[in-house]
Formats: sequence, structure tokens, C-alpha cells
Amino acid sequence: MDGNGRWAKERGLKRIDGHKKGAERISDVLEGAMECGIKYITLYAFSSENWNRPKTEVDALMKLLAGAVEKYGSKLIQNKVRFLTIGDLSALPPKTRQKIEALKQSTKDFSALTLVMALNYGSRDEMARAVSSIAQDAIDGRINPKSISWETISQKLDTAGVPDPDFLIRTSGEMRLSNYLMMQAAYAELYFTRTYWPDFTKEEFIRAIDEYKMRERRYGLTADQIRNK
Ligand code: FPP
Repeated sequence: MDGNGRWAKERGLKRIDGHKKGAERISDVLEGAMECGIKYITLYAFSSENWNRPKTEVDALMKLLAGAVEKYGSKLIQNKVRFLTIGDLSALPPKTRQKIEALKQSTKDFSALTLVMALNYGSRDEMARAVSSIAQDAIDGRINPKSISWETISQKLDTAGVPDPDFLIRTSGEMRLSNYLMMQAAYAELYFTRTYWPDFTKEEFIRAIDEYKMRERRYGLTADQIRNK
């Protein structure tokens, strides 16, 4: 969800105003996802590197997050949306964490759509935590190091139980992945738009999905192999 800061700056507003507007955009995109029959959507809300931003911005984002969980929680419940997170929540303010855990608990049986929020998330941090856990399993004799496969690793990632993304959208014109779902997005189709996140409407989201539908996914096979399948 990139471009909040630039969106605000171009309007002579404060960066946090861009984040606020960005938070409001989330429900549009969730509506679009439901209309398209999408079952999982993951949003990169706060990266493990975002802590290095000025303290005022980090504090404001944390406040916005706590407010958003409260404000949109009931909307998620109404729409039968399951709420999950990826990332290391231990660094979040305890009250925010409690609210997040409560929302996860009250939406755990829903399946219309699963919304995964990446909070204090970074692929490298996620991988380090997964490797540490696997190493401990090996030391404790629960796992034979020779049997470690991608399946073993993927079950230790924060996304365990969540399918790999088919489609990855980055707004604001930046063309990089910024430590986001690096392993899970191995075969994801990528989509970059210049639109800043606060301007990213449901209509543009649906247009992006329409483009996805035109893509040919080959997973390392040839085009002929795929077409004759
Ligand atoms: C990137 O834009 C955006 C973020 C770091 C935060 C995304 C947050 C929201 C959309 C609001 C919801 C927030 C939470 C925590 C639920 P940027 O600030 O890097 O924009 P810029 O590149 O234009 O400066």
C-alpha cells in the first residue's frame, strides 16, 4: 500500500493524512476482492523496516492501526471476513496486540474472505524466525535435518496455512518487492501501477484483476506444455 506520503505531500498535507486516507481505501479493495471471488488478500501495512521512520510517524501509524482494528473490526465480522496477521506482533504495543488477537479470535470461523495484515513483517525476519524454530526442532530430535524440505520451511513461515499469492500489486510506481513475501511470491504475477495507494479505487483493483486473468502462468513449463495440459 505504497504512496501515502507522496499523496499527502502533493496536497500540502502531513504524511499521516496520507496514511489515514490509505486506511480508508482498504474497505474499497476488500469489497472489490469479494466481488471478484477472491478468497485471500494480504496487505503490507507495516514492515519490519518501518520502525526506522521518524518516531512521530511510527507513533501515528501505531495509533492509526489500533483505531483501524477497532473501527473496521465490526465491519469484518458483519461481512464474515476472517482476520489474520503475519509478522512479529511481539513488538507492537500490548493493547494493540490484544485488540488484534481478539479480532482474530472472533473471526476465526469465517471463510467468505481471509484478510491477512502484514504487521512488523519482513521476509528476512520471517525466514530467520522459521530457521531458528527448525533448528530447535532438530536439536530436540523432533526433526531429522536431512528431511527438511520446502514443505517443512513453509509450515514454519508466518503464512503457514495461507496459500501462496497468485497476484501481487504494488502501488505508487515503485518496482520492487521490499522484503515482502519473498518466498511465497516465487510464482506470483506482479503488477505495478503509478497510482498512489490513497487513490487506488475498487474499479482500479478490478481492472488489475482483469489483467491478471489474461496472464499465462507457466511455473517453469513451456507455453505448449501448459496449453496441452
Ligand atoms: C507506504 O507508503 C505505506 C505505509 C508504510 C503504511 C501503510 C499504511 C496504511 C495504508 C494505513 C493503514 C495502516 C495501518 C498500520 C493499518 P509510504 O509512507 O512509504 O509513502 P511514500 O513512499 O509516498 O512516502
